[in-house]
Amino acid sequence: MSETPHSGLAERAAALDAADRLAGRRELFALDDGVYLDGNSLGALPVHVPDRVRDVLTRQWGELRIRSWDESGWWTAPERIGDRIAPLVGAAAGQVVVGDSTSVNVFKAVVAAGRLAGEGRDEILVDATTFPTDGYIAASAARLTGHRIVPVEPADVPAALGPRTAVVLLNHVDYRTGRLHDLPGLTGAVHAAGALVVWDLCHSAGALPVGLDEHGVDLAVGCTYKYLNGGPGSPAYLYVAERHQAAFDSPLPGWNSHADPFGMTPGYAPADGSVRGRVGTPDIVSMLTLEAALDVWDGVSVDAVRAKSLALTDFFLECVEAYAPAGRVTSVTPVAHAERGSQVALRCDDAEPVMRRLVERGVVGDLRRPDVLRFGFTPLYVGFADAERAARVLAEVLVLPREQAA
Ligand SMILES: Cc1ncc(COP(=O)(O)O)c(C=O)c1O
Repeated sequence: MSETPHSGLAERAAALDAADRLAGRRELFALDDGVYLDGNSLGALPVHVPDRVRDVLTRQWGELRIRSWDESGWWTAPERIGDRIAPLVGAAAGQVVVGDSTSVNVFKAVVAAGRLAGEGRDEILVDATTFPTDGYIAASAARLTGHRIVPVEPADVPAALGPRTAVVLLNHVDYRTGRLHDLPGLTGAVHAAGALVVWDLCHSAGALPVGLDEHGVDLAVGCTYKYLNGGPGSPAYLYVAERHQAAFDSPLPGWNSHADPFGMTPGYAPADGSVRGRVGTPDIVSMLTLEAALDVWDGVSVDAVRAKSLALTDFFLECVEAYAPAGRVTSVTPVAHAERGSQVALRCDDAEPVMRRLVERGVVGDLRRPDVLRFGFTPLYVGFADAERAARVLAEVLVLPREQAA
């Protein structure tokens, strides 16, 4: 440990918290006196949500019953809530629809993008470092549609593109390292090759500006249970750029995406707009839980969130450098702001017992086996004192004899 907690970092944390314009948002969340750095896995509960969900259950379902499909806005919830998420990912209204899991939306997006790319293009490039589900789903989609999967590191995508490329599936932020990939540059390169790009925003939406419309992204998917705090298993979303909607040919054309769902006709005719991305009956309770949770974003700018996120991760890295015994942990998260999401990932030989010890001491991060400690920084409810304390407790754990930590 090159410095002690008396090195001034705790005082700096206090000053940074005092100057933080987002600090007041923390009281909107149900948190205890521990340090919660796992919002990149499951966001914290906004305190107003249980009452809203109680109303959904007791009044909307309990009293209005079937009438709620209209009177409580259940039927239109997927598009309405999509429009609440849209500004957070830089999309104009009418392009985001909520529903299903990210995995299912990856399937819809990859198959539909392959169809949009047209004949003669038989390759789907997939981020070789992807969160596994995207790779599994893309592989199955490729088998169904006669495409070939080409695994490629995101930085190598421009060199791998060619006249055979149909679709490129990429993660905006790497789930393991927290590396932010160059969405504008890679999107431009994919388009220059005449292909379409699908971005997975699970680890960027709600943590940093995405700019889907600005950068001309074709399709995107993301979950809502991380930085959007929608709750465990809350529904995911699908973005289909307006220019692609008329030709978007869903591989899961369920009745909810029909132009006249209650016409109950045997023939399928797709609805216009983002509705075309729907499949079956929406998971209303989860969906309306998410809708309530999104209230915490009212009046918040994503740019302010990004500025705080970078300041928090910078400060945490500085505290780890100051407090942790030399050589015990190594950051695998890029130092450059342009390459960093909102988490810090530290490589550590004995990551599993170290994380267990941290959780016992009230600092909750998580682990990606075999050797990565992940610390997610959700700017709406994590402060600088949290970052300092997490680094200090980490250092305490790291000096314990390894056997004790095991
Ligand atoms: C990048 C990424 N994609 C997809 C998923 C999984 O999505 P789902 O379980 O909603 O299908 C995750 C989950 O953490 C993820 O991090």
